[in-house]
Amino acid sequence: MTVKIATVVGARPQFVKAAMVSRALQRVGAQGGAEAPREIIIHTGQHYDTNMSQVFFDDLGLPASRHNLGVGSASHGEQTGRMLIRLEAVLQQERPDIVLTYGDTNSTLAAALVASKLHIPLVHVEAGLRSFNKRMPEELNRILTDHAADLLFCPTATAVQNLRAEGITQHVYNVGDVMYDATLFFATLAERRAAHVRRLSEGKPYYLATVHRQENTDNPERLAGILEALGRLNEVVIFPVHPRTASALRQHNLWGLEGSPNGIRLIPPVSFLEMLNLEKHARLILTDSGGVQKEAYFLNVPCVTLREETEWVETVAAGVNVLAGACTERIVSAVDRLRHGALSQTSGPLARQPFGDGQAATKIVEILLRFPVVSTEAEKRHRV
Ligand code: UD1
Repeated sequence: MTVKIATVVGARPQFVKAAMVSRALQRVGAQGGAEAPREIIIHTGQHYDTNMSQVFFDDLGLPASRHNLGVGSASHGEQTGRMLIRLEAVLQQERPDIVLTYGDTNSTLAAALVASKLHIPLVHVEAGLRSFNKRMPEELNRILTDHAADLLFCPTATAVQNLRAEGITQHVYNVGDVMYDATLFFATLAERRAAHVRRLSEGKPYYLATVHRQENTDNPERLAGILEALGRLNEVVIFPVHPRTASALRQHNLWGLEGSPNGIRLIPPVSFLEMLNLEKHARLILTDSGGVQKEAYFLNVPCVTLREETEWVETVAAGVNVLAGACTERIVSAVDRLRHGALSQTSGPLARQPFGDGQAATKIVEILLRFPVVSTEAEKRHRV
């Protein structure tokens, strides 16, 4: 029997994760046989700018989406509501055996709600992460998705424990982190973008910064605190600006792409390969992104996290990631400590790799294809 998998994605980091699993599915497909799975990609349209979406499909070889729901930007309720309406219609038409979704965005939550209400088995990749801060929209999305999911793939042992603490113990697998797979897989390819990095940094040593979390962009004091810190570092700082942040900078009359302090290079969002290259050659990274914190860890670059908490506690325990929030003094002092190696000396070198062995996507596909799914047309009709 051919298993039909509907992959639901919508935001930048999901394209990266889905690309790795999609490759693993295609490998099974290439081996032929009756078991070859069939994947269709459904893009909610949460991210729609070329450099937030299409460039990722192009760079990562993610198959073109069969459906784009075109939801665009709106408040959380409206954006998620549009997704629910449009995704329900598409899933009723497509009748997949499995819905596969990633991470913690509004697209993830929409996939979880629609699939579970249509009784289509739901698979969640990157399950079990918690910041324990329910003011983050992502925290709500994760909790709700994990509780709706039928099969849960965790990136770390911590994530498995988080699920257990909430009573979720069935069909939970620690397979490692697909972002680690992606970093290993694309690192060499990313080297081809080295000229881009040299151009941006003019060959000088540089720091890399990213800010996009709602808690930082929508609070002018926090955003100003971070910018003030970046300006005080006296370093070249390359700062790819997420559209949410660009609009906050405009709204609060803070830096513009043209008007930032000396050394700060504000640039438009970059592709995954360009980002990997920028990260790899940075002396230090400052970020509020979960993905970037981990990539810093994978690439052995010290990181200052511009949040009060992180889901990726392993990177902090290893002494190479410091939580500094949005307070100028804390950020500057964290950079100073990392720069002088104080933290890495006291905590020792990266011990074990807590994010798996770079084969997470292969393991996900092996387990997923063994998962019992409803398969006959009659059962599907009954289900939807
Ligand atoms: C979303 C995810 C976040 C993830 C991030 C990765 C949620 C709740 N948040 O946040 O977890 O880390 O994606 O980037 O799902 N915009 C554009 N062009 C685009 C996309 C967005 O201009 O292609 C602008 C719009 O003004 C929009 C704002 O960015 O209002 C925010 O976009 P949205 O998708 O709502 O959330 P993100 O901040 O990207």
